[in-house]
Amino acid sequence: AIRRKTAPDIRSRKNGEPIVMLTSYHAHTAALVDRYCDVILVGDSLGNVMHGFETTVPVTLDMMILQGHAVMRGSQHALVVVDMPFGSYEASKEQAFHSAVRILKETHCGAVKLEGGARMAETIAFLVERGIPVMGHIGLTPQSINALGSFRAQGREEESWAPIENDALAVAQAGAFSVVVEAVAEPLARKITGTIDIPTIGIGASAACDGQVLVLEDMLGLSPRAPKFVRRYGNLGPMIEAAIQGYAADVRSRAFPGPEHVYGMKAKA
Ligand code: KIV
Ligand code: NA
Repeated sequence: AIRRKTAPDIRSRKNGEPIVMLTSYHAHTAALVDRYCDVILVGDSLGNVMHGFETTVPVTLDMMILQGHAVMRGSQHALVVVDMPFGSYEASKEQAFHSAVRILKETHCGAVKLEGGARMAETIAFLVERGIPVMGHIGLTPQSINALGSFRAQGREEESWAPIENDALAVAQAGAFSVVVEAVAEPLARKITGTIDIPTIGIGASAACDGQVLVLEDMLGLSPRAPKFVRRYGNLGPMIEAAIQGYAADVRSRAFPGPEHVYGMKAKA
């Protein structure tokens, strides 16, 4: 039997081999990501990527559960972490528990992720004490876009470091098994990684982190726009467009379907 990676497996990778993480929201990409990555994140970035929302704020728990379950069915080896969407966990630790239980029971995933540092520490501890592994998410927290005003890198002035360092410590002390550090200036990401005893997983937070994550469609070159911190490992947008263009032309000229694609009649007995 294949044993899936667990939250403790990832936790134990502090100061070890870098943790490789990518997002996936569906079975077929999950199967590919699963071959090379330690962790698959079912991110609420699916709001942007799958649904065309401007932000992750409209994403619902039902959307996360539907895609989380799809990713579990498509993968075998990686730890699957499902994002808790905006509004499903902030009101109280009890609300967070009920939402996280739905995610675990209905998707069978191994952990949840939620945004926020010190302000979420009590909630993280409450979930962890009750058997729910939690990945933290600090630095830029996109669900707070309406309060922040814009998506900007964090910690680029030393005066702004203290609250972010405090968030990292709070999440680690609360019992999170790892923490995503998003869009944080390299020296601060390095300092946090050296200070806390759980792995940091960077996105726009430098190679100093204990692991990296990207949005799959961004690194594949499928997203129309991607942030500065994304390296493109593919150029799927133009590839898909060329295929669609070819199909449309063939249908219009009746070059498709060809003789090899049609069903003839069965011979009479
Ligand atoms: O939703 C997401 O894809 C994420 C990653 C970018 C960390 O939270
Ligand atoms: Na997210």
